[in-house]
Parts: sequence; structure tokens; C-alpha cells
Amino acid sequence: MKLRRWLAAGAVAVVTATALNVVPATAGRPYDPAAQSLRELAKRHGLYVGTAVDMAALNDAAEPRYRELAASEFSTVTAENVMKWESLEPTRGTYNWGPADELIDFARKNNQRVRGHVLVWHNQLPAWLTSGVADGSISKAELRQILRNHITAVVTHFKGKIWQWDVVNEAVSDPWDTPSTLHYKGFWAQNLGPGYIADAFRWARAADPKALLFYNDYNIEAFGSGNPADDKTQFVYNMARDLRAKGVPIDGVGAQGHLGTQYGNFSTLQVAAALRKFAGLGLATALTEVDVRSQITEGVEAGDSAEINPRLQASAANFSVLMQACLAERHCLSFTLWGFTDKHSWVPGAFSDPPEGLATVYDENYQPKLAYHELKSDLIFSGPPYVLPRIPQHPRR
Ligand code: XIL
Repeated sequence: MKLRRWLAAGAVAVVTATALNVVPATAGRPYDPAAQSLRELAKRHGLYVGTAVDMAALNDAAEPRYRELAASEFSTVTAENVMKWESLEPTRGTYNWGPADELIDFARKNNQRVRGHVLVWHNQLPAWLTSGVADGSISKAELRQILRNHITAVVTHFKGKIWQWDVVNEAVSDPWDTPSTLHYKGFWAQNLGPGYIADAFRWARAADPKALLFYNDYNIEAFGSGNPADDKTQFVYNMARDLRAKGVPIDGVGAQGHLGTQYGNFSTLQVAAALRKFAGLGLATALTEVDVRSQITEGVEAGDSAEINPRLQASAANFSVLMQACLAERHCLSFTLWGFTDKHSWVPGAFSDPPEGLATVYDENYQPKLAYHELKSDLIFSGPPYVLPRIPQHPRR
């Protein structure tokens, strides 16, 4: 009996080891990992690789490459804008589901999972909402009810179609804000107090018990001083810990991963340690909006390779740090790029003084950059014992 159990365990171990080490099959061709897409390469790790999708670019007949790559390279998609409140409910009481439904349809056709972005955020709110609160025609009590109805309506509409919801986005201040001590910032905290966060997760869970519910923020890729007064990662960690302790249904924390080559860079080990610490709370993690921007100097504009190449190299290295850290942590479920081509990146529009750009993994002509090839290398040249397949996550409460 004992021997038989031992043999069975041994057989399982052999099968597992074989499965992990097997070279993926290709139809009669010699296996060439570099010819595989990001999504194919990520599959061996159980990792989903994604992109934010700009619906105007997706529907632009003059740019077939955008649609082709969005379908072929990625196994998960996020709506860059069309699931935000101002897009979904531009007029009070009238929902415009069209563009978001189109993305869901695109994902279904291409066998992709969808990250829902975003239920509660202080930006891109409809004017009727912000002005109603500002002029007092919407009371605080009514505002809370409006938020509840919005979450319920949106999550119900997409029920069963969303893998991970960004329930609350960017609720925490930055050290450069006033006051500099980290605090809950923005429209929702100001009007409802920080209790809206727990409420939002509970309302979302009630509407779709199967979706994974995430808190999402930037500058939380690595821990700093460990003091929540100035370390945003620690602040968010404490928040997530307290929410879990209270039984609030939060399943994951998303680190956006908006990096810049002009800043101090993280090491892979720092980011991996942060992801592991969040996993220690029983949470899934994800890199949700990765891009690595650079300052566009006159030299860059003029095509000076001495200025362009160091930026492309530093950008590639930063993408790679985040990818390797995600691969190393089995609860890191997905790695999503915030756009995949410099032709359609939010960076030049959002960072103009000084101008920034070059933030994605394909250039403006849809040619893959060094960053793209490095992401592929990370997926190819990693495996056991340090990189093991993801552990699928299910909503816990
Ligand atoms: C950005 C979009 O990319 C832009 O097109 C839009 O004009 C502004 O919002 N953090 C987030 C995203 O959570 O929703 C933001 O997306 C980028 C920063």
C-alpha cells in the first residue's frame, strides 16, 4: 500500500516534470520559440499577456495591423477607455454599452480573457455627476446610491464575461501631493470618505460572484521605506490587509507598471518581493498597465541614435524586470501592456512638459522594438525550479 502510494506519487512527479519540460508542439516545423507570439510563449507558464485596446484604432480600416496584433499577440484585453464611467453613462440614466460590448465580442472571437477597467475612479467621470455634486444638486447620500447603482449595473451587464475587475483605481495620494503624508485622495474619498472602497468591493461581488476583484494603482511595484506615510506600496498593502481582515471581497492587487527610463529603476528581485508579499495576504497580483516612457529630446526628435538607443535599451530592461518578477510569482496572473504600439499610446498626450514617448513595445510603424524581443526571451528562457505555472485564483469570499 505504502509502496503503491509512493509509486503513484513518483508517476505524478514524472508526468509533471515532463509536462513542464516538454517543448511545445508545432505542426511539422522545427520548434522556433522566437517565431511564437507573446501569448503562445506565455501559455507554458499559465500566464496571460494582455494589452489595453483603443477602440478607434481597432476599428480603423486603414490600420489592419492594429487589429491583427491585438488578436494574435495577446490572450487578455482591457478597454483603454470604453468601460470608464464617462463612456458608459455620458447622460444620466442612459448607458452606452456598444463599444465595450464590441471589445467583449472581439475577445470572445479571439479566445481572450477580459480585464474590466474600471468601476470606481476619480478621473473620466461624466460631467453630470461631478457638476451635480459640485452645485449641491446631488447630495452625499444620493451619491453613494448612484455609485452603488453604477457598480451594480455595469458588473451585471458584463456578468460572466469579465475575468478580473479593477474595482477601485488610484485611491491613494502620492508623496508629491499636499499634504505629503499618504492619504485617500480624490472625488470619492472627499465626498464619501474612504469607506467607499469596501462598499465598492461588496457591491461588485454581489453583482458577479465569479469575477476576480482587484484594487489597481501606480507606483506600487516595489516597497520603499516601509512607512505607510511615504511608501505607497506599504500604504496599499496595509489597506488590502485590513480589507481582507474585515472580510471585504478583494481578490487581487494590480500594479499598473507605468515606468520611465529617467527614473531610478527597480531590480527584478525588488518587484518579485513585492508581488510575493501581496500574495502572502492571499491575494492574486497582476501587472495591469505596463509601459516604459522616455523623454523626447531634440536629439531623439532628430533621429540621433546616440540618444535613441539608450532609451530603447533602458525601456526594454524595465519591461523585462516587470515580466521576470511576474513570472517568478505564481499568483501573478497577467501581464498587460497599456497599448502595444507607439502609434497609439497615451503617453505623448499625457506627458508633454517635457515631452515623453517611446513607451510601448512596437514602434509607430508596428515594428517590434528591443523591448518586445526581451519580453519574449523572458518567456522562453524561464522555467522550473524558480518559474512555475500560475496557480489559478478563484474568488474566496
Ligand atoms: C488613460 C488612457 O490611456 C487615455 O487614453 C485617457 O485619455 C486617460 O486615461 N491609469 C489608468 C488608465 O488607470 O485608465 C489611464 O488610461 C492611464 C493611467
